[in-house]
Amino acid sequence: MQTVRQLPDLRDAISGFRAAGERIAFVPTMGALHAGHMALVAEAKLAATRVVVSIFVNPKQFGPNEDLAQYPRKEQADSRMLAEAGVDLLWLPPVEVMYPKGHSTNVAVAGVSEPLDGAARPGHFDGVATVIAKLFNQVKPDIALFGEKDFQQLAVIRRMVADLDFDIEVRGVPTQRDDDGLALSSRNAYLAPEDRAAAVALPRALGVAAKAIEKGDDAEGALATARASLEAAGFDIDYVELVDAETLGAPAAGRPRRLLAAARIGGTRLIDNISVEGA
Ligand code: PAF
Repeated sequence: MQTVRQLPDLRDAISGFRAAGERIAFVPTMGALHAGHMALVAEAKLAATRVVVSIFVNPKQFGPNEDLAQYPRKEQADSRMLAEAGVDLLWLPPVEVMYPKGHSTNVAVAGVSEPLDGAARPGHFDGVATVIAKLFNQVKPDIALFGEKDFQQLAVIRRMVADLDFDIEVRGVPTQRDDDGLALSSRNAYLAPEDRAAAVALPRALGVAAKAIEKGDDAEGALATARASLEAAGFDIDYVELVDAETLGAPAAGRPRRLLAAARIGGTRLIDNISVEGA
């Protein structure tokens, strides 16, 4: 696996792939890799002949009181995992390469970025859209893969790709979960053992609510039950909402629906989501 940290080196490597007629799959990450990321890499290997992974802890997507400083950084272990998985190129830009002095352009995706995490974390999705637009221009992939765990992020990126005419296929990959159902996340490492044990209430509450709504129960009642069970488990809730799976606005008859939640336990903010079939 080749590792590059400067744009000219990245461009040389990408030009080499292109000259050889390779198809490029791209997995953007913030590192602290786990089985969820490796599932994206595995899918990337099936979708293309070359796989590029980036690791960049993007300061623009963290709010002033968020965990940028504490965010886990594990460059050596990450690099080993990626090499063992057969990744071709690791893009590790320093902050000053991604955002050189004078950088002043931001990408804002209206609508889909505004509710839910957009309301709870002002500016977060502008930071995500800006860095992904830059990464797409740097790597120029044919296909990019994102986890469905960050469901709103995936919707924001799909909207941006459509609106800005990026010629890139965006593929969502199902959430990877621990044996008890908790969605894998780099932030799970923050959980104290008792909070980790209680955190399973999140996927359970979503699963129960989704089933109730699918069998025709009143959606508001099912959401209220989910909220109550999360609070009983010790969660402090940001939101538990049923939305249109594409626009993330109000669900409408005949359209795909998704149930999304964000909640804190022991100071750690967890998110999860699940499809709600039928409409
Ligand atoms: O999901 C993430 O790890 C990040 O939000 C992403 C997509 C790599 C952008 O920084």
